Amino acid sequence: MLRSALLNVMIKAAHKAARALKRDFGEIEHLQVSLKGPANFVTAADRRAEEILREELAHARPGYSFVGEEGGKREGPDKTHTWIVDPLDGTMNFLHGIPHFAISIALEREGTIVAGVVYNPATDDLFTAERSKGAFLNDRRLRVAARSRLADAVIACGLPHPSRGDAAIERRDTAFVQDRVTGLRRFGAASLDLAWVAAGRFDGYWERNLSPWDVAAGVALVREAGGYVTDLAGGDAPFVTGNIVAGNEAIHRDLMRTLKEAGKAA
Ligand code: IPD
Ligand code: CA
Ligand code: CA
Repeated sequence: MLRSALLNVMIKAAHKAARALKRDFGEIEHLQVSLKGPANFVTAADRRAEEILREELAHARPGYSFVGEEGGKREGPDKTHTWIVDPLDGTMNFLHGIPHFAISIALEREGTIVAGVVYNPATDDLFTAERSKGAFLNDRRLRVAARSRLADAVIACGLPHPSRGDAAIERRDTAFVQDRVTGLRRFGAASLDLAWVAAGRFDGYWERNLSPWDVAAGVALVREAGGYVTDLAGGDAPFVTGNIVAGNEAIHRDLMRTLKEAGKAA
């Protein structure tokens, strides 16, 4: 499959970081049974992967700014371009030996996400999207699911770690949505949740309190697959609010309506 130079840069970086993550994931199994546990090991794996991504991307596009979950923002001389990177999305899964985690890389140009790559090294699923050029899983073009009734939909959500977010609101929202859909899922990697909406595996997805690196690449995937992504108020600011709703036009609208009703019923 012929890809743009930009996507090739992003994919090459993702593959390089993935090799390190995959090696580390192989070690996790042993660490599960050790008394020390794998937490520190995972933090190191996470940082290592971010360093590889930063170096690779800087080498290919010197001067671009870089925002990574681990190292924060590093301004380059070119302030119109920023890489937004989560080197390991789905840390909790990784830590528990669950092969559902991803490297997420997006490129923002003057405030717009122009390309996104989400790569799961454990399954070799490579999701790519570029503005106006479509979204792909490996070399297959993606379209969001066509289902239009919430009652037939499988919807993914996110649940915060007990130390973050508002558990009462989450319980209220999930109970409300669960009563209106055919299946509710919580897989534990926001970038893959969005990628799976783009691939039509999930009909929709919502989550609160996310960071730009969790969703930047995934937003590009969903939009290029013909889907809708907004914040919970329907605005175009999921990066600012950290709240996100995604799906095809009908599911996105009805999911948003349902979450609003949940808020009123509280
Ligand atoms: C997390 C995952 C998870 C979401 C969390 C995120 P991390 O990212 O995307 O699915 O529910 O809110 O923080 O910490 O694994 O990179
Ligand atoms: Ca993340
Ligand atoms: Ca992360």
